[in-house]
Amino acid sequence: VDFRSDNVGGAHPAVLEAIVRANRGAADPYGADLWSQRLAARFNDLFEREVAVFPVATGTAANALSIAMFTPPWGAVYCHPNAHVNVSECGAPEQFSAGAKLIAVPGDSGKITGHGVERAIHREDAVHTVQPSLVSISQASEIGTLYTRSELESLSEACARHRMHLHVDGARFAHALVALGASPAELTWKAGVDVLAFGATKNGCLAAEAVVLFEPARAQELAYRRKRAGHLISKQRFVSAQLEAYLTDELWLSNARQANALAQRLGAALQSAGFALATPVETNQLFVTWPASVAANLRARGFAFYDWGALGPDVYRLVTAFDTRVEDVDALVTAARALRVQDATSPTKR
Ligand SMILES: Cc1ncc(COP(=O)(O)O)c(C=O)c1O
Repeated sequence: VDFRSDNVGGAHPAVLEAIVRANRGAADPYGADLWSQRLAARFNDLFEREVAVFPVATGTAANALSIAMFTPPWGAVYCHPNAHVNVSECGAPEQFSAGAKLIAVPGDSGKITGHGVERAIHREDAVHTVQPSLVSISQASEIGTLYTRSELESLSEACARHRMHLHVDGARFAHALVALGASPAELTWKAGVDVLAFGATKNGCLAAEAVVLFEPARAQELAYRRKRAGHLISKQRFVSAQLEAYLTDELWLSNARQANALAQRLGAALQSAGFALATPVETNQLFVTWPASVAANLRARGFAFYDWGALGPDVYRLVTAFDTRVEDVDALVTAARALRVQDATSPTKR
């Protein structure tokens, strides 16, 4: 049973069916198709205002394009040290922005604060230093924690004071939305967010993400940037069809609720079995401390999960997804609990 990530599973059947339905006859290429047109209207409704939406195939592309929109080559981008854009995108944000500098801002619970960003700003008006341009956060964060509305607002106030913009890596935006009980508008432009990398692949799509730009007047620039990045997909109808199905009947929200609920169940059961969690469970990721022997035994029994040394020794990450089964969660807990009992009663431990 695989708890390594929320991208190890398949796509939701409704998404696959939408792709099959879209597979009929000819359609205009490069985003001029009906699916993409409908999607544009749908995103306007979703965000309660006019936005520019640009489907792409990966989260890395969505982030790097978003960052490049607001960061000149001499710009500075402030983000958490463990941000996906900082450690897992192979320099794409730096490349797409033609050389901007990412500056890691330490912060508790996987998050940065407006105050932390302001402290990190090396303000020098001389030509010698990179200039504050953008703050980039992940919502939910890389360790599954959430930025509340007031935390977002304090970040956007810091941005306003330093004439910076605010980017959200929303690879798990749906998980954050349902956990916070907020609307898409409240968690983005109403709180000062300028651009969102809207994730969908981790939560039911096959390969579909989107850049959502809250300054639609700049859509043409993003169109050129996306083409140059190789993410203007000629048969875009298939990507838009995925996103359309993802939003239909609130599939994205019910998928995220399911993933979050299973993480809660898993976290509570592991704690009651006597294992400590390294962070509170707020969305669909949890970080548990297991003796190395317990982790090795679980792996030998077919449970898969990643080591998460960033949160300390013997910490392991467990991720639930829309397609995680309750019985798999319960099987993991039962196996871990049995190993704990064994561990506690083994002669060497007495
Ligand atoms: C926080 C975060 N952002 C973005 C991504 C998207 O990455 P990819 O380019 O693999 O779609 C991921 C995927 O692991 C992620 O965890």
